[in-house]
Amino acid sequence: MMTERFAGKVALLTGAASGIGRSVALRLASEGASVFGVDVDEAGLASTAAAIGERGGRMAWARCDLRRKAGCVEAVERAVAELGRLDVVGNVAGVNRFHQFADMPEDDWNLIVAVNLSAVAFVCQAALPHLLQTSGNIVNLASVAGLMGQAYTAAYCASKGGVIQLTRALAMEYVKSGVRVNAIAPAGVDTSMNVAIAFPENMDWKLVKPYMGHRGLASADEIAAVFAFLASEDARPVHGAIWTADFGVTAG
Ligand SMILES: NC(=O)c1ccc[n+]([C@@H]2O[C@H](COP(=O)([O-])OP(=O)(O)OC[C@H]3O[C@@H](n4cnc5c(N)ncnc54)[C@H](O)[C@@H]3O)[C@@H](O)[C@H]2O)c1
Repeated sequence: MMTERFAGKVALLTGAASGIGRSVALRLASEGASVFGVDVDEAGLASTAAAIGERGGRMAWARCDLRRKAGCVEAVERAVAELGRLDVVGNVAGVNRFHQFADMPEDDWNLIVAVNLSAVAFVCQAALPHLLQTSGNIVNLASVAGLMGQAYTAAYCASKGGVIQLTRALAMEYVKSGVRVNAIAPAGVDTSMNVAIAFPENMDWKLVKPYMGHRGLASADEIAAVFAFLASEDARPVHGAIWTADFGVTAG
């Protein structure tokens, strides 16, 4: 039987329509959390909410576009207005595009940095006053791409490196409060992000191989289990950690 580590707690999750965000929503709800999901994909949000409802849990949701600060602030305000408090914030929404760096369009750079990095900062900024009241915590979805250079994904690497340093900076700034801030750095995870990849022409696969690892992809549910641990009281001493979940890709 699943323990209820999140009974009476409220979790705001970005990217809850799909992949890791959906799995985290299901996992936290199964452990007693009331979840507020945000995404741009309304059908995906409705599907996650229905799956949680079928299991006897609860997820309220709102379509929020996190490319702008206003969407990030709205996400936090709607969550608190509807569910009354905030205990856990999961910044999970993200995008990736592969390019030869020389051909990378400005719009793709701006999109990736906006969703993967700036939105994480603005959601944290809006959420922290509420988390200070509950001694809550933040879990950001970084990536091994923030810890090692990966060819053809310069914008993604830069954004995830930014998330890692943002996590550490907030951990230090709030070190005297009861709030915890951590990040997960997965390698490949079996989600739609890895299904619809458009690889650039003339790609050198030898450069890509090192970050594919030796043990295949993690499942979204496996990453959700790591998330649930970090967001729970079981991880009370864990603060400012970049928790790899990468089958050893960054161990070498
Ligand atoms: N899949 C992997 O291999 C992998 C590896 C390491 C880290 N990650 C990170 O995990 C997180 C989740 O990725 P995933 O694999 O579940 O991908 P996914 O594509 O299944 O989910 C990403 C979600 O983010 C949402 N989103 C995108 N732009 C948005 C916006 N402007 N506003 C609101 N929501 C938006 C999408 O609609 C989608 O539901 C991302 O931050 C990703 O970078 C993924």
